[in-house]
Parts: sequence; structure tokens; C-alpha cells
Amino acid sequence: MQGELLQSNPSLDFKIKRDFALKSLNSLCYKPHIEETMKAETEKLASFLLSQRNVPHIQAILEPIFLRLIMFVVNGKLYSNDDANFHEIWKTFQINSQLLVSKWEDLKSISLFQSSVSYNFFQIRERSEIQMAYQRDIVNRHKDCFNPNIVSDLVDCSLVMLELNEDSGVLSQEDLDGIFVELCSSGNQPISATLAWLILYVSYFPDVQDKIYQELTSVMGIERSPRMSDQPHLPYTCAVILETQRLATVLPFMYPHMATEDTQFMGYKIPKDTAMLFNVWSLHHDAKHWKHPMKFDPDRFLEDGDLRIPDQYLPFGDGLRSCPGEGISDILLFLFSTNLLYYLRFDLQGKVDLEGEMMGYVLAPKPFSLTVTPRETVVIDIAAELGETLETSVCMIEDDVSFDDVLD
Ligand code: HEM
Repeated sequence: MQGELLQSNPSLDFKIKRDFALKSLNSLCYKPHIEETMKAETEKLASFLLSQRNVPHIQAILEPIFLRLIMFVVNGKLYSNDDANFHEIWKTFQINSQLLVSKWEDLKSISLFQSSVSYNFFQIRERSEIQMAYQRDIVNRHKDCFNPNIVSDLVDCSLVMLELNEDSGVLSQEDLDGIFVELCSSGNQPISATLAWLILYVSYFPDVQDKIYQELTSVMGIERSPRMSDQPHLPYTCAVILETQRLATVLPFMYPHMATEDTQFMGYKIPKDTAMLFNVWSLHHDAKHWKHPMKFDPDRFLEDGDLRIPDQYLPFGDGLRSCPGEGISDILLFLFSTNLLYYLRFDLQGKVDLEGEMMGYVLAPKPFSLTVTPRETVVIDIAAELGETLETSVCMIEDDVSFDDVLD
């Protein structure tokens, strides 16, 4: 299932797939229904955290939320928390990610033939096949009510591309299904780890958290919460997001790359087919480029009050294999961090460790406990403010489709 983009060679079909994923995700980012849905989810989350008051492991709460939102951008359906299909999909991705963890462990111990975790590969393959069939069913439902003038999600974008023959007939439906599933599964861990790091850092440095709150309320007052159009007026808050991504570097080695031909790099001979890892963590912590690199210092991204992003800042990679989800991640990170910090104050409970731990390719913070208290911005019940569920103009996928149905 995994690998339409991740494991392709930079061939023609890879370039077409990548171009499609990048252009479509970037154009969807700016659709009002996407922002509205994301913002409504931030408010639901703030309300949920307030109802808990004590939160033992925030990343575990964030992961399914981001998966649901990424799936909304891809398939146009926002699953509810208790949707049985969503739980199956979630389980499939978790199994795949555990498999990655074991591959990573193998890579570290250079024991390529042993895995510390034993897998039922038949079960993994079967789940992946079910998921592809389920995805195909979603695509077919889009085809049934396709209107090229109403493009609301990535599947719609693919139907427009095929209708205009923009792929010159290179991509099969299977290729596209693979891209949809891969995009759904790739972004959720790095993005939830990044937001968990941000919450950890601002709780660890309460003066930073207070400064963000002051900036937010000076721009918005206490009557309305932040939206994307506020971004240019919130340089300090944006600098905190950038500094979190630098210091945490959630994908420290990016994804493995492969030399497509014999090559020379800085005097080293690299034979064709050699696997390579890029140490972006080292770049982000190099004292040649960053003063006191281990210090959490958002001001390093500000110059005369404006944002300044150095060339050595590469959380999403660079070049042909850079992250196609960068645009959507920027929006999610901005909306979630600003809205949560607008409504809530986070305080750490007990001792914390700022070291982090590898989960597959992702460097996540170790679980930490938080106390959540309302800010004065919570003048009304946030949950009551959520309003009715947002309808998009696409024909929504029926709730009664199940993993079992697609197997028939
Ligand atoms: C804060 C969140 C994220 C971070 C830090 C991040 C970072 C990265 C990095 C560093 C790479 C590898 C670049 C390389 O190896 O050269 C990558 C690849 C990728 N990312 Fe993200 N990512 C994030 C969110 C997302 C999201 C939300 C999606 C999907 C909507 C996504 C989909 C992908 C895919 C499909 C690839 C593989 C691209 C390829 O192989 O050409 N990522 N990401």
C-alpha cells in the first residue's frame, strides 16, 4: 500500500504523481470549507481538553484528529470519532507505522535480517488490500456525482486531471488510489508530533506562552478566535512555530533516499542503489548557522519584528522529494496552535524530558502530562459556539459504506 510517492524513482510517472499531489494539495489549502472545517476541529479540541483538565498524553489525542482532517482534504469526508471505518483505517496505519518502527530498529542495529517485532504479514497485506478497495469505492462514489465546476477534495482534483488528460494517460486508477492512501498515512504522525512539541515547549517556557497570548489578544481581542488571514499580523507566534520545527526536527533523517546512478559527493563515491539518510537534525543544530542551537529561542526567526527564515531551515526537506504536505501542514499548525493557545493555558505536571524518542522515522516528545485551564477568551461555552456540522458542496460519501461491504 505504502510507497506511490515514497518509493518511486524520479521517473516521469513520479514527476507527474508528485506534481499532481503538490499542486492539488496547495490549491485545496485555500478553499474556505477546508479552513472552516479545520478551525471547527480546533475549537472542538479546545473544548474537549477543557472538559478533561488533566491531559496525560496529548499526542495520542492529536493523531486521530489530524488523520481525520487529512482524510477530509483527500476524500471529502470528515469521519466522526466513533466511525467504525475510521477506526479500521486508523488501525491499519498504526500497524504500518509499527512495521516502520521495527525496520528503523533493524537499520540502527544493522541487523537487516532480524526484526525485534514479529508481524503477521498476511494480516498486514490483507488490511492494506481492504483499504485500497475501500479507497476505490470512495473514488467511484465521487465519479458518480462528479461536477468539474465543484472541486472540493483531492479525489475531485484527480478526476479533473484525468478529464483534461493532464497526465498524458500515464497514471492508472491504481496509481491514484495509492497516492490517496499514502497521503492520508504520511502526514499525521509528523504533524501531531510537531504540535505536541510546541505545546511542550510553551508549557516549559511559560513566558513564551504568555507572549503568544498577548500577541493573539492584541490582534483579535477576546471576542473572536484566530483565522488564517491573521497570520501576517502574528509574527511572534509564527516564529514560535518555526523554532519548534527547528529545535524538534520531527523527521531528523527525512525519508531514506536511493542513489539512482553512481555519483560523487564531497569527495565520497556513492554507488548506484546506495540508501542514504540526510541528517537534517545536524543542520538544524549546527552552531555555524544557529547561535546557541540547543536553546529554544523564537526571536532568532525575527528581524525588526518581521519573520526571517534562513536557508538552513529545512523541516520539510528540499528539492524533488520535499514534502508535498508542507502547505497543508503550515495551515494546520497555525490554526491549531493559535486557537489552542488563544483559549487555553497549558501547565506541565511533574518532571519532563525534552529529549524525545524515535517512533519510526518521527522524533516525538516522550509522553508528558498537562493541566489545562481556560483563558479569559473562554467567555462562552466553546462547544456551543461550534455551530452546525459543515456541509461541503461535494456529494458526501454515505456513512453506511463499510470495510465489510467493499470485500463483497
Ligand atoms: C509538520 C508536518 C510535516 C513534516 C515536518 C513533514 C516533513 C517531511 C519530510 C522531511 C519529508 C521527506 C523529504 C525528503 O526525504 O527529502 C516528507 C515527505 C513526505 N511527506 Fe511530509 N511532513 C509533514 C506533513 C505531511 C502531510 C500533512 C502530508 C500529507 C498530506 C505529508 C506527506 C508526505 C509525503 C507523501 C512524503 C513523501 C514525498 C516523496 O517521497 O517524494 N507530509 N515530509
